Amino acid sequence: MSISRILVVCLGNICRSPMAEGALRARIAGSHLAGRVEVDSAGTGGWHAGEPPDRRAIACARRHGVDIGGLRARQVRARDFEDFDWLLCADADNLRDVRRLAPPAARERVALLLDWAGTVPGGEVPDPYDGGDDHFEEVWEMVDAAALAAIERLSSRAGSGIIVP
Ligand code: 4NP
Repeated sequence: MSISRILVVCLGNICRSPMAEGALRARIAGSHLAGRVEVDSAGTGGWHAGEPPDRRAIACARRHGVDIGGLRARQVRARDFEDFDWLLCADADNLRDVRRLAPPAARERVALLLDWAGTVPGGEVPDPYDGGDDHFEEVWEMVDAAALAAIERLSSRAGSGIIVP
């Protein structure tokens, strides 16, 4: 099986996408796909580039046994469309923005994370930045369920990346 490369994208790359990156890394490491999937995250905006995740995101992931404190934010770049098989977006704004940046041939590899994973068809991960700890918990539940479902998808030929169809 080939290696699949996934980039999770949100707005700031300090809340939703690093949490999703952490959930994906942890679930994949504990699965039969360990070592076969590369995961990274980025933001459509660059305001937080170089910063660690929001402390509330770090605390939330830690409550679930996942350390995301070493991650650093960066902005989506043109090379990402070559470096990753799938660019999975937190919400519809992110999807629109990443598709605008994408070369035409790459557009079908840009999707909503929850939709691609199949956990919530057409679903979005709500921005917790202005919310409380319960909003971060809600994000974790969503991205962790998507991470589990992603393992199923990546295990099937249809989900394994640029070797499709
Ligand atoms: P994220 O949350 O997109 O989940 O990382 C946000 C973080 C920062 C900002 C917006 C959303 N901001 O405007 O700075």
